[in-house]
Amino acid sequence: MSAEPSLPITSPAPRFGVWLIGARGSVATTAIAGCAAVAAGLHPPTGMVTETAPFAASHLPALSSLVFGGHDTVDCPLPKRAEHLAEGGVLPHGLPAAVHAELVAADREIRPGGPPPGDTGRTQDEWIDVFAADIRDFVRRQDLAGAVVVNVASTEPAPADGSLPPSSLYAAAALRAGCPYVNFTPSTGLHHPALAGLAESFGLPYAGRDGKTGQTLLRSVLGPMFLQRALAVRAWSGTNLLGGGDGAALADPAAAAAKNAGKERVLADTLGTTPEGEVHIDDVPALGDWKTAWDHIAFDGFLGARMILQTTWQGCDSSLAAPLVLDLARLTVRAHQQGLTGPLSELGFYFKDPVGDGPSSLAEQYTQLRHFAERLRTDTPAPEAHR
Ligand SMILES: NC(=O)c1ccc[n+]([C@@H]2O[C@H](COP(=O)([O-])OP(=O)(O)OC[C@H]3O[C@@H](n4cnc5c(N)ncnc54)[C@H](O)[C@@H]3O)[C@@H](O)[C@H]2O)c1
Repeated sequence: MSAEPSLPITSPAPRFGVWLIGARGSVATTAIAGCAAVAAGLHPPTGMVTETAPFAASHLPALSSLVFGGHDTVDCPLPKRAEHLAEGGVLPHGLPAAVHAELVAADREIRPGGPPPGDTGRTQDEWIDVFAADIRDFVRRQDLAGAVVVNVASTEPAPADGSLPPSSLYAAAALRAGCPYVNFTPSTGLHHPALAGLAESFGLPYAGRDGKTGQTLLRSVLGPMFLQRALAVRAWSGTNLLGGGDGAALADPAAAAAKNAGKERVLADTLGTTPEGEVHIDDVPALGDWKTAWDHIAFDGFLGARMILQTTWQGCDSSLAAPLVLDLARLTVRAHQQGLTGPLSELGFYFKDPVGDGPSSLAEQYTQLRHFAERLRTDTPAPEAHR
């Protein structure tokens, strides 16, 4: 009797975890729903830079290979959160139903966040262990080839004492679990003196901080224009009106101060000086996730002629942020696969307050990002650590 023909053994395609801190927030829910919608071909990948031609050969994980989980302190299920976003016009009508299965699957992978205000039940190290165990369990349970931790939780005030704020506990947990870390918020995360050099010692890459999605994106284009045309900026003032969870969190002056520091850094870096003027953020709950940002720029031309540029940005914050979160997750997972460690300054294109040294104008940051995309093309892991 002849032997049965042997079937070729194919191993399943690798899948990668995206562990979101603040997994039930607007940005996280939009990223999870949007990833499922784009992977299923229901919507084009508008706003996703990694879906454009320069990234096609960079071996980034496919959107369909991303598996979501995370921590949050609220328990509103993701399908319900997505319905709220659809009611507010952030997600298209019908999308929550179309990606219900994916939202339910991600919801099952969300674990309780912390620590509760005033908590004395656990030490900081114990919290880090709890969070790291949650991340490790996720990777094991889902049989993932790797995972990245992305902070999209509410903005915290900068810490007033030496203790680690929640964002830093999560950042340390990401590293302890062997995952690269991305801070999409202005919160402290890895920027805490107690965590300096930790990512390098774990051999992991990290990126941040605070996604550049609206007013600051525009500033990183306009600042270099004034400088290159030798026009003297006298004052640059800005006001933001927004609602949603982010608006509520930024109603706390200490949280708003953390946010504004990044916006001001972009001007100082692109103009070479810090012009007069402030940024204000007003919480207007009726606006929900929709933001209006005004900038008023007073500048001098030839022979001191006084001129003004005014800009109005009306954006849907979560729709602007979610594709960047997906881009960053894919790029960081790939950078980790390639053996890169330490600050990924090449991702400065995405951030208000980028880690490492890099250019501050958007055009130069984009060039740097394209070079990075080329570097990620090599099939073999980098022989040496990134830095
Ligand atoms: N949308 C944008 O354009 C944009 C741009 C840059 C940065 N960001 C930042 O992204 C973050 C998220 O924005 P959003 O609009 O989704 O806010 P959101 O309020 O809708 O969501 C934040 C989520 O974080 C959760 N959270 C709070 N404390 C937590 C903790 N200790 N542990 C775990 N989860 C916690 C909240 O319960 C909530 O679900 C904010 O920090 C915001 O500043 C957003």
